[in-house]
Amino acid sequence: MVLLLLFEVLTVLWIQQISIPFAGKLKTYIRHPDIPGRITLSVQSDGRFGNQMFEFASLVGIGLYNNISIVIPPGLSYLRRIFNMTECQFPVMNKDELGSYYNLNISKSMGYDARFKDIRKHINHSKILLKGFLQSYKYFHEHEHFIRRCYQFTRRYKDNTKKIMGTRIPKNRTIVGIHVRRGDFLNAKSRWRGLSVANVSYYYKAMDLMQEKYPNAFFVVASDDMKWAKENLNSRASMSPFQNTFYDLSLFAICQHSIISSGTFSWWAGWLANGTTIYYEDYPRKGSSLSKGLDRSDYYYKDWIPLGD
Ligand SMILES: *[C@@H]1O[C@H](CO)[C@@H](O)[C@H](O)[C@H]1NC(C)=O
Ligand SMILES: *[C@@H]1O[C@H](CO)[C@@H](O)[C@H](O)[C@H]1NC(C)=O
Ligand SMILES: *[C@@H]1O[C@H](CO)[C@@H](O)[C@H](O)[C@H]1NC(C)=O
Ligand SMILES: *[C@@H]1O[C@H](CO)[C@@H](O)[C@H](O)[C@H]1NC(C)=O
Ligand SMILES: *[C@@H]1O[C@H](CO)[C@@H](O)[C@H](O)[C@H]1NC(C)=O
Ligand SMILES: *[C@@H]1O[C@H](CO)[C@@H](O)[C@H](O)[C@H]1NC(C)=O
Ligand SMILES: *[C@@H]1O[C@H](CO)[C@@H](O)[C@H](O)[C@H]1NC(C)=O
Repeated sequence: MVLLLLFEVLTVLWIQQISIPFAGKLKTYIRHPDIPGRITLSVQSDGRFGNQMFEFASLVGIGLYNNISIVIPPGLSYLRRIFNMTECQFPVMNKDELGSYYNLNISKSMGYDARFKDIRKHINHSKILLKGFLQSYKYFHEHEHFIRRCYQFTRRYKDNTKKIMGTRIPKNRTIVGIHVRRGDFLNAKSRWRGLSVANVSYYYKAMDLMQEKYPNAFFVVASDDMKWAKENLNSRASMSPFQNTFYDLSLFAICQHSIISSGTFSWWAGWLANGTTIYYEDYPRKGSSLSKGLDRSDYYYKDWIPLGD
């Protein structure tokens, strides 16, 4: 009887231990980028926050999948001040090292290039810098759980966000974040490329749909155009008090569900909430150069819900 109990306790402990992904594995091969004969992979730090989150996550995903060392480029090291990466530590490259890396061009900015499933077959250099936006969850799909641990906000963001929102969100409501992307996407060049912007009818339809699913939904909006958001959505949604990119994303991370619009920041808002996600189906605009050759299923998860204007 006692033995049986002991056996059960041990089994439970053992199962708990192996269910912690990467705890040991990471240490064995990620932290030593300089061992000769090894490949070291890094990525260019292009674009802004949302793009850079894709670059980091994809770099980590490709590195783990292929079992090769990665180094964080200097331009992405600031992410460690926003997210608590204590369980996700990688070396940072020195600025003057960048020149010694072979630049591997990835033509697609959105979408997925399956060659990364077996990167050793396609490259012949010990130091590789991925150039491109790497905007596809498929680069880190197998390691989603780990990336979620990398993208935990630091205590400062978490605590302040919870404290400030705690006074604004009524008890017992289902929080639905709405991200309204406008800003530079409204200019002619962006529009021409396919960086489309949802109009007000999209947001109302999306809110109706959310309310059907969650009758006690409480909507919170953040945007790079708060003036437009206030003018158009104020009657049904509360406005983010932050007007700060990092705090806004930290707000989306505490939402249960999300209505997203265009661009990578929006995408991450949906990903972090990890509930029901409604996305704007005409981003990127159909028929545009960005859309050309793009398999939308590389960018949007199958269970995210498309909706138009
Ligand atoms: C990963 O690479 C390390 C060092 O090159 C090696 O010891 C280890 O066995 C590899 N692991 C897998 C799963 O391939
Ligand atoms: C990468 O693309 C740039 C611009 O398109 C080009 O100048 C460069 O030669 C390319 N590099 C490689 C390694 O293909
Ligand atoms: C890779 O590099 C080695 C050594 O420089 C060379 O012998 C080999 O032919 C290269 N392979 C390819 C596919 O380029
Ligand atoms: C990071 O998370 C760990 C727990 O995983 C915690 O002990 C630590 O205080 C956190 N650091 C910051 C800066 O949030
Ligand atoms: C909140 O929900 C819980 C569980 O559904 C319920 O017991 C409680 O009375 C609710 N509180 C308020 C203030 O509505
Ligand atoms: C969100 O969380 C669930 C587990 O509840 C998981 O299965 C799913 O893959 C996650 N990711 C996204 C993007 O929905
Ligand atoms: C929103 O888009 C729909 C469909 O494209 C269009 O009919 C409507 O006039 C637009 N509304 C505004 C306010 O632009």
